[in-house]
Parts: sequence; C-alpha cells; structure tokens
Amino acid sequence: MDKNMLKALPPEADIETKKILKQLAKTNRSLAELKGFSDTIPNKNILINAILINEAKDSSEIENIVTTHDEIYRAMSLDSFGDSAAKEVVSYRAALWHGYNLILKNKSITTNMIVEIQSIVEGNSAGIRRLPGTVLRNDKTCEVVYAPPSSEVEIRRLLGNLENYMNEDDMQIDPLIKLAVIHYQFESIHPFYDGNGRTGRIINMLYLVLKNLIESPILYLSKYIITNKLEYYNLLQEVRTEENWEDWIIYVLKGVEETSRETLEMARRINHEVQLMTNEIKEKLPKLYSKELIDLLFFEFYTKTRFIQEGLSVTRKTAASYLNTLEKEGILVSEKIGKERIYQNKRLFDIVRYNK
Ligand SMILES: Nc1ncnc2c1ncn2[C@@H]1O[C@H](COP(=O)(O)OP(=O)(O)OP(=O)(O)O)[C@@H](O)[C@H]1O
Ligand SMILES: [Mg+2]
Repeated sequence: MDKNMLKALPPEADIETKKILKQLAKTNRSLAELKGFSDTIPNKNILINAILINEAKDSSEIENIVTTHDEIYRAMSLDSFGDSAAKEVVSYRAALWHGYNLILKNKSITTNMIVEIQSIVEGNSAGIRRLPGTVLRNDKTCEVVYAPPSSEVEIRRLLGNLENYMNEDDMQIDPLIKLAVIHYQFESIHPFYDGNGRTGRIINMLYLVLKNLIESPILYLSKYIITNKLEYYNLLQEVRTEENWEDWIIYVLKGVEETSRETLEMARRINHEVQLMTNEIKEKLPKLYSKELIDLLFFEFYTKTRFIQEGLSVTRKTAASYLNTLEKEGILVSEKIGKERIYQNKRLFDIVRYNK
C-alpha cells in the first residue's frame, strides 16, 4: 500500500492525550456557556441569520472571495446579483441554512447531503470527482503537497467510512475531538473539484448541531481559520506527514473555544439591541408594537413592505405606513435598491458589521 494513501477512520494514534483533554475541558466550558445563553433567546433565527453573514463572508474570504458587508447586503436584497463575490457569500449562507434544515429533519449527516451542500456552495452540480488530476499545492511555492484519492470508488468508500464515524453513537471519544478528526479527514478526501474547504467548514457547524453541542448553527469558526491560516494548512499537513494529531486537535479545540466566546459576545449585543428597540417602539409607537413586528425587523438586516404585509397580515398601505413611521422615528433607514425601497435595520447591521 502506498504510504501516502489516506487511511480510513478511526485514527490509530492516541487522540486523547493529556494535553488534548486539558484543552477539551476549557473548550467544553466556553461552548456550554454559549449554548446556555442561546437557549434563552426567543427568536433564534435572528441570531442565526446575523451570525451567518459574518461566517459566510469570512469563510469565503479564505478562498479569496473578498467582499464588503454593504455588497452582501445589496446582493441579499436584490433578486439579481451585481457583485459576484457577494453572490458567493449569499450562496454559502444558503448552503448552511439548507444543511441545517436537513440535519433537523434527518438527524444524520450523509454523503448525499454533503453533495447537496457543495452544489449550493458552488452553484453547479459537478458532484464528486470523477476525473483524476486534483492535487493540493502549497499556496506560495506551488509545490504539490498532497494528492487526494483519485478514483470515485475510493472517494465514496472513504466518505462512507466518514459518514459512519460522524453518525455513530459511541460516546467513547468526545465529539469535539471527533470534530477535528472529521475535518481533517474530509479535507483529505477532498471529494470535490472545488469548494471542499467551504463545504468542510459547513460540515463542522452541522456536526456540532448534530451532536447537540449547539442548538443552531451559530458558531462562527471561519474567522479563526483565516486569522491562523498558515497554521491551519501546516497542521493539516503534519497529521499526514508526521501523524501529528495532537497539535491539530488542539488547534481545532482552541478555535472552538475562542469562537464560542466571541459568538457569545455578539449574541449578547444583538439580544440587547432587540430589547432596546422593543422598549423604544413600545414607548414611542405603542400602536405599532407587536412581538411579530420586532421579529420581522430583526429577521434580516433589512425589510420591505411586502415582508411586513405578509408577516403581520396587514394591507400593503398599512405596511408601508408602518415602515414610513419607523423611519421617521429613526429606527430604520431606507434606501432605494433597484426598483424597491429597502428598510435597513442599521443598528443590527452595525453590530454585525463591526462586531462591537
Ligand atoms: N495539506 C492539506 N491536507 C488536507 N487538506 C488541505 C491541505 N491543504 C489545504 N487543504 C484543504 O483544502 C481546502 C481548499 O480546497 P478547495 O479549494 O476545494 O476549497 P474552497 O472552499 O474552494 O477553498 P477555501 O477553503 O480556500 O475557501 C482548504 O480550506 C483546506 O481545508
Ligand atoms: Mg477553491
């Protein structure tokens, strides 16, 4: 057997070393705190949507798809997209939502689901690699660092093995340690021509949901990876060349720890803003106030007459006058995009954009 050939899971190495377990305890604590907080938030869609926009933006940036929050916002509110980087970000977010709904329904992660997610990320249906020639290169030197399995049969076999590993119910190894193993394995199988990184990062989040470590996909891991990108590539490679699982697993565990903390901060800020705005509307515009209205205002960064009309079951005229009033009170800011008037929840947008 070729020594470079990717081995099936589980790893032979000890993946529960003292160092790993020590970090694991810290990571579990900070993740539990996030879960505890998000469990108390009434409308989780608000959080998911807001946090996802950053996750999608950062995750796409790893692939050098760079865009701004403003462009993304425009792309979301228009039916046809202008900027193509923004469009990719919106696709990433759509793929995550889609995957999340599949997990809720199926309570498992399967190869077919992964194929569906990747096709939404990439916007094509090329599917699993059938042609040889895909290799991973060093970003700078362009030297080939790894050739993933090339036959479709082999790729599917390894994906099947990964699928079992993800879904099995053995409580032997902590799911957070398994998360690191799964991410390494998925990226090493590298089943698609492109989009493996982004798809893999979506799987990370879905796996945490599957294992009930977070209730909704709000853990915002891509920023950590971009910030520590070189280390990310090096450690992935060291698992292969030196069986250095320990440093890789600790890297991922630290990422989850840091990210949980940051996400908790942002979740608190958003939650606080929901409360402030609720109080403000109750006080200044008591006739307009309803819980449903607040939910609509925070569902996305913007709203439109039609959303209010449908969401509150009021006439178009009433919906338009609500929005107009909210703008006069300085709660929303409107702008004409394309043919439509869009009302931005600037306070929410700023929290997410500046993360402060
Ligand atoms: N040495 C390596 N071993 C295993 N996986 C690797 C290695 N180097 C890079 N990768 C993975 O390959 C991904 C890139 O693959 P691909 O271009 O298909 O994905 P992408 O989503 O288009 O890119 P990106 O991750 O840059 O956004 C990286 O994100 C990383 O997870
Ligand atoms: Mg790519």
